[in-house]
Amino acid sequence: MDERERVQEDEAKGPPETDPRIAGEKHPVARMIGIGVFASLIGIAITLWIDWFPEQGATSATKIDTLYDVLLICSVPVFVLVMTIAIYSVVRFRAKPGDLGDGAPIHGNTRLEVFWVTVPFLMVTALAIYGWITLDDIEAKQPNEMVVNVTGQQFTWTFQYPSEKLDAKELVLPVDRPVEFRIHTKDVIHSFWVPQFRLKSDAVPGLTTKVRVTPDREGDFEVVCTELCGLGHSTMRQFARVVPAGEFDSWVADQKKAAGGGGGGGGGGQAAGPDAEQLFTSNGCSGCHTLAEAGATAKVGPDLGKLGDVDAKFIRTSIEDPNAEITKGYKPNIMPQDFKDKLSKEELDALVKYLLEAQG
Ligand code: CUA
Repeated sequence: MDERERVQEDEAKGPPETDPRIAGEKHPVARMIGIGVFASLIGIAITLWIDWFPEQGATSATKIDTLYDVLLICSVPVFVLVMTIAIYSVVRFRAKPGDLGDGAPIHGNTRLEVFWVTVPFLMVTALAIYGWITLDDIEAKQPNEMVVNVTGQQFTWTFQYPSEKLDAKELVLPVDRPVEFRIHTKDVIHSFWVPQFRLKSDAVPGLTTKVRVTPDREGDFEVVCTELCGLGHSTMRQFARVVPAGEFDSWVADQKKAAGGGGGGGGGGQAAGPDAEQLFTSNGCSGCHTLAEAGATAKVGPDLGKLGDVDAKFIRTSIEDPNAEITKGYKPNIMPQDFKDKLSKEELDALVKYLLEAQG
């Protein structure tokens, strides 16, 4: 009997009732289900035991972590099912050495196909609905909401509180008060993320993106930029300080007093110019440069406290046209070249004076 005849005979017979390789085995499917259930339980226990996220700092964090746990509980059995069948098949139906024959002529299985299309479809749909409900819940408008404008720029974050009429270089939030962050950028795409709040949003040029959060734990939580935005990307980190409501109010009052310069009212106010240290931080200089006076320690650009023997003209040129002269060991085109347009003449004067004085 040649090869072709054998194949024809096989096809005529159809697949064998019992594969000879598992002929002696009792209840192979039941055993696989047993192993699968056992492995799934172990897998679920391990995934729930692992601490995937940092501490929860907002009401949204609890909901997101629960969603994540549900996703894990649903995915582990699917993973185990696929792996159990795959490993069982590889071990049990492995071809014997020298066996070059074809497999049994199987042409699909309608019942099985309906099952493996319907079940995943229902699971994914149910999880998508649950995810949507959770997102809707987190994004719902809250009463007594406070708006905070967040602005990203290379390489710093600044914050503005419209109802408090306050600009700040740090993010302070009263605990248990809903916040709506409105996120902007002055230059490239950044991404605003506080891991303890779980939520994250890109800062996109020309758009205002929004994130709603109700911080429910006091503490210092890092604000991280999670979009590669340039050489100083990894230094684009600040803190969100969540404090009791009373402390927030006194912080606002302090900030306003500081911003008001000599204070209002009587007497011989010397015309206090713009606060140069504030300018230094809020324009992102501290995101790249070290300057002891301003508490800046970044190392993307030169240390501005150690410029050596320089004059006001050099400092001004270096801000207005950064590529005019590049300090040895640093590269051109790293520093933004639009400070000339962004800063007013008074602000530039104040910065130049401040940096000149910083040379000691
Ligand atoms: Cu801003 Cu990365």
